[in-house]
Amino acid sequence: MKIVIEDLEVWYSSIPALRDISLEVSEGEMTFVIGPNGAGKSTLLKTIAYIVKPKAGAIYIDGKSISRFSPRDLGKIVAYVDPQISKTIPSTVLEFLLTARYPHQATLGFSIQRHDLEIVEKISRQMNIAHLLNRRLDELSSGELQRVLIARALAQKPGVLLLDEPSAFLDLRYRLEILDYVKTSTEMNKITCIVAIHDLYLASLYADKIIMMNNGEIVAAGRPEEVLKKELLEKVYRVKIHLLNINGKNIVIPLEPIERIGLWV
Ligand SMILES: Nc1ncnc2c1ncn2[C@@H]1O[C@H](COP(=O)(O)OP(=O)(O)OP(=O)(O)O)[C@@H](O)[C@H]1O
Ligand SMILES: [Mg+2]
Repeated sequence: MKIVIEDLEVWYSSIPALRDISLEVSEGEMTFVIGPNGAGKSTLLKTIAYIVKPKAGAIYIDGKSISRFSPRDLGKIVAYVDPQISKTIPSTVLEFLLTARYPHQATLGFSIQRHDLEIVEKISRQMNIAHLLNRRLDELSSGELQRVLIARALAQKPGVLLLDEPSAFLDLRYRLEILDYVKTSTEMNKITCIVAIHDLYLASLYADKIIMMNNGEIVAAGRPEEVLKKELLEKVYRVKIHLLNINGKNIVIPLEPIERIGLWV
């Protein structure tokens, strides 16, 4: 599904969070959103999921404004993985994964169909969480929970997949495996996938496009090699950068902060 964003502006009461955001995101591609803390990455994802309502501008999914979708229809199409989700939800992993299928039910009451179970079981195997299905969410390690959250989003069979910091708690192997899996799913199922991430290494490895944000605005957008540039990264992150080129990809090595904050005074 194609996402078109026009002149988006978002405020949290009197605080501006996004300004002048216009962009297009194509299906079957991974678009990574990078930028410093507070840049507006999560706000952008939440606005696309219509969890945060814009003050001005519009977001279209396949030509239809998200404000014109019913919550149920939007729930079928858009999956947003919230990193802040409470671990204390009193359910098992299986119950939690099955909630992904709610918006697909024809009736108000939810009854589990064989088809729903098959989807959840297949994704659980692929994400290597099948052995956790009967465990409670609050018993999982941070990385296990992260895999469950991504599995739940995929079980929703979304057209638009919004991942906020998916790699934060994953070990080296799962960082690569899970982004590999998400990229394959994105291409095979023509998902429109947007990933907010701090790990610039993963961004250079998996992004088809990168959007760099700072202070609520887009400061650069394009292919990874167009955005991951030394001067731009140093200006936005205030860190000295060394760029390595490995297999044609720009690998960002952060060296030291440009100015030191007075931690010792
Ligand atoms: N619920 C809220 N109420 C008020 N201000 C908010 C709220 N959520 C975010 N903000 C502010 O909006 C700005 C953008 O926040 P956002 O969470 O989108 O940044 P981010 O790029 O995701 O940062 P991080 O890398 O730290 O996750 C920040 O200045 C933040 O303090
Ligand atoms: Mg964030």
